[in-house]
Amino acid sequence: MPVKKVTVRVPAKINLQLSVGPRESDGYHNLVTVFQAISIFDEVTVEFTPANSGVSISITGDQTHGVPADANNLAIKAVELMAKEYDLEVDAHIEIKKAIPVAGGMAGGSADAAATIVAIDYLYSLGMSREEMTEIASQLGSDVPFMLSGGTAIGTGHGEQLTAALSRGTYHWVLALSTVGLSTPAVYTECDRLRSGSEIAEPQTNEQLMQALLAADPKAVGANLVNDLQAAACSLRPALRLVLDVGQEYGALGALVSGSGPTVAFLVSDEEAGLDLAVALTASGVVGSVARAYGPVHGAKILN
Ligand code: C5P
Repeated sequence: MPVKKVTVRVPAKINLQLSVGPRESDGYHNLVTVFQAISIFDEVTVEFTPANSGVSISITGDQTHGVPADANNLAIKAVELMAKEYDLEVDAHIEIKKAIPVAGGMAGGSADAAATIVAIDYLYSLGMSREEMTEIASQLGSDVPFMLSGGTAIGTGHGEQLTAALSRGTYHWVLALSTVGLSTPAVYTECDRLRSGSEIAEPQTNEQLMQALLAADPKAVGANLVNDLQAAACSLRPALRLVLDVGQEYGALGALVSGSGPTVAFLVSDEEAGLDLAVALTASGVVGSVARAYGPVHGAKILN
């Protein structure tokens, strides 16, 4: 009896470093980024449906607003790409239980695509290697390969070429969420606009950050968080500056816009400091809602 249904759990990510080079001729920017997978999870269930029924999708959970429930969803694109590459006739329903904020710079869509790759590999017993999964993932988006592996990793190229980072310890985060997302291409375009006329160096690994991660030193990690897209995200959404200030005022070890935003991530020393900061941010009235998480955690993983 073939397996008919599988659920894959997949985390969100934040970027501890996001250094952005000049725009290349392919329209993308060379990056050096340090990803950390954190404990906010989507669950993607893929279930076979009767022959010739095609691929359908439904979205449930806390964060459904703005998630495309059609062929624009990256999970459906993942199925279509795998069907083509592996010559599969796929009749399936995908249910995404969403907790990762949408268009928030936490790679929610990429996470769901990564989970779908793992689910299809399992349901069709494809026995894909990590390299084969990464190859498919990188065609779907720059962040998708990282969502397969999770942990802490350095991404180069467009962010899709990964090497594991030597990181020790657990890091506690408070996340300030916005109700309205930001478009990643728009933030990159604003970054180009703000930097036009200045010389842009090729991005380099931040050695102080890498040392801090190796030493399990949250204070030093907090002092070395960098995001070249932060100015652009704040330019498009000026209220983010206020959010960053409030968090730092209330004792965060470090703060930055996550990826292309608008989620703002605050690093705190422990769980208790996270609770205090979450309360302070909520009381300040400048933040829509607040979440707490820790990292690093695993990438996409089969639950049952
Ligand atoms: O790769 P992905 O589809 O996630 O990228 C979304 C958009 O972000 C791209 O269309 C591009 O505008 C921008 N981008 C970029 N340089 C990168 C990654 C993304 O300019 N390295």
